[in-house]
Amino acid sequence: MDMVPNKRILLRQFATGTPDETDMELSVGKVSLRVPPGSGAILVKNLYLSCDPYMRGRMREYYGSYIPPFVPGSVIEGFGVCKVVDSEDPYYKPGDLISGLTGWEEYSLIEQTKQWRKIQFEDIPLSYHLGLLGMPGFTAYAGFYEVCAPKKGESVFVSAASGAVGQLVGQLAKLHGCFVVGSAGTKQKVDLLKNKLGFDEAFNYKEEPNLDAALKRYFPLGIDIYFDNVGGVMLDAALLNMRLFGRIAVCGMVSQTSLPSSVGIHNLNMLIFKRIRMQGFLQSDYLHLFPEFTEKIIEYYKQGKIVYIEDMSEGIESAPSSFVGLFSGKNIGKQVIRVASE
Ligand SMILES: NC(=O)c1ccc[n+]([C@@H]2O[C@H](COP(=O)([O-])OP(=O)(O)OC[C@H]3O[C@@H](n4cnc5c(N)ncnc54)[C@H](OP(=O)(O)O)[C@@H]3O)[C@@H](O)[C@H]2O)c1
Repeated sequence: MDMVPNKRILLRQFATGTPDETDMELSVGKVSLRVPPGSGAILVKNLYLSCDPYMRGRMREYYGSYIPPFVPGSVIEGFGVCKVVDSEDPYYKPGDLISGLTGWEEYSLIEQTKQWRKIQFEDIPLSYHLGLLGMPGFTAYAGFYEVCAPKKGESVFVSAASGAVGQLVGQLAKLHGCFVVGSAGTKQKVDLLKNKLGFDEAFNYKEEPNLDAALKRYFPLGIDIYFDNVGGVMLDAALLNMRLFGRIAVCGMVSQTSLPSSVGIHNLNMLIFKRIRMQGFLQSDYLHLFPEFTEKIIEYYKQGKIVYIEDMSEGIESAPSSFVGLFSGKNIGKQVIRVASE
């Protein structure tokens, strides 16, 4: 019956506080490499899996979010790049490379195939379909152009700037003719921002005793656009430094996701004084722009106008530690897990 062992990462329990490797566990099951007849499903071999901060939100028992929690005892779900092994869906055939929401395991049976994409551009690293050309890259694209409404010459600040989303926001802002400063949590990341990713300036926020003073140093005339990936005290400091009619794109609050309750923001009165527009967004609200995003980013990449940094860990066993590492800043660039070779 073509049954093979299948290593899987299960959610052992809901996480409290900063997620820990012990919230997850490795188990070995068995899987048939044949799709059940008449199911319309596909059976995929997972090649690359993505670690994304939003997944922390699915590790708690909360049903009011835009996406439901994981189920304790079940396989963790995340974005993946996969090869079709067997298919009962006429659109997919064995050997196709595809990306979509899969399981943290070696093989997955996919019953809902509608949200999946075939990978067409094979001269770009496959794993980039989880980062540069995947959900985080699209978040940068939609957030920067649609939410920030940038103008040439404006001053842009990006937090978690060397990460999956931030590194592309900064590069798009530079291509748009903006002055760009990024913050990150280590010297190595700051060096990457300045020397590889083309940011005008960068600083290590962990070495700044006063974030307000740090932002005043880099933006003496103020910030036009703040692309916020972290929330908390950085958001508060940015509010104090915005220019008239500035825009804040609230993309994520990674500094807050593991806290029992979020820290208060004290400087919201700046929204009135400076007539700032502060807008939260989800990349999924802009999916109609995905084709133009793909076309433009591939063109920039092939022309050498943008680069992309990945942090690749090896083997499904590395998934829990790679995921946990997102919350201490261990990842340098987009965190991906290589489960199997192409
Ligand atoms: N709205 C949307 O549709 C959407 C879509 C995708 C992602 N997001 C959000 O975008 C943000 C960035 O995601 P990503 O995938 O690009 O992640 P990432 O930046 O690749 O990885 C997370 C980074 O966050 C930083 N970090 C972790 N804990 C922190 C803390 N307590 N305070 C400050 N920084 C902290 C670390 O970098 P440092 O070493 O620099 O601290 C870490 O490397 C996240 O908030 C995520 O939830 C939103």
